[in-house]
Amino acid sequence: MKIIDGKSVAASIREEAARAAAAVAAARGSAPGLAVVLVGENPASVSYVTAKERACAECGIRSIPVRMPAESSQEEILSAVRRLGADPSVDGILVQLPLPRGIDEQAVIRAIPPEKDVDGFHPVSLGNLVIGLPGFVPCTPAGIVELLMRSGVDPAGKHVVVVGRSNIVGKPVAALLARKGRGGNATVTLCHTATPDLCAFTRQADILVVAAGRPGTVGAGMVKPGAVVVDVGVNRVPDATKKRGYRLVGDVDFDAVAPVASMITPVPGGVGPMTIAMLMANAVKAAGGPL
Ligand code: GUN
Repeated sequence: MKIIDGKSVAASIREEAARAAAAVAAARGSAPGLAVVLVGENPASVSYVTAKERACAECGIRSIPVRMPAESSQEEILSAVRRLGADPSVDGILVQLPLPRGIDEQAVIRAIPPEKDVDGFHPVSLGNLVIGLPGFVPCTPAGIVELLMRSGVDPAGKHVVVVGRSNIVGKPVAALLARKGRGGNATVTLCHTATPDLCAFTRQADILVVAAGRPGTVGAGMVKPGAVVVDVGVNRVPDATKKRGYRLVGDVDFDAVAPVASMITPVPGGVGPMTIAMLMANAVKAAGGPL
């Protein structure tokens, strides 16, 4: 069994993004600019946004922090996003999700011009993904496919079972893996909370992608011996022995599944760093960079 090192693969992609960002800066006199919008202070969102802004600094991408109070109205958030959309010094716009209760997330996403949609969540971006046209691919799905390819696992011709149907991971990763082209051409089964006998499906997977958002979703008996297991879960569980008071676990019972799998991604250090690396790549692409 091999543990897939997402941190080191992500570091290579960040280096590539940094070179491409430098090329953009040299060609047009300004580095790629990424607006990072955070509404409120959800602790997980604050830590994601901090990590994204730090990655920007490392890659030579100009991050443009936009912080709004949790009580912001729908109209205030929409006008902030529209202003960034119209600002020529902003190449990419990221609105950290989830937004506070009562805000129409889809309306905010639709206010991002598709050519600045570095998260790939706009209906135009997702439509392009499904029909195989160029456009922004959501960062976690793109990161999963890139991590597999750079670990020597080409999904082409394999049976990939995806557990979870979120708009951010499950649905787009299924579309990406099934489409024609590099990193695609897999046979894809999409399972979710209404799938009876989940185990009967997961046991058929050559590659199992778990994005259910619940610890312990996949145990040893649910994995075919020799399968490649990609754990997308990021769950905080209370842990008094940690200074922060919690530790991160995935959706897969790592200790039980690792001996059965041929390769497995850890949490943390698997898919997580890839998401941020692909965001850097998308930000450079939004600025017309050579990626
Ligand atoms: N919330 C959880 N994942 C993501 C992501 O990839 N991008 C944004 N903007 N919000 C998220």
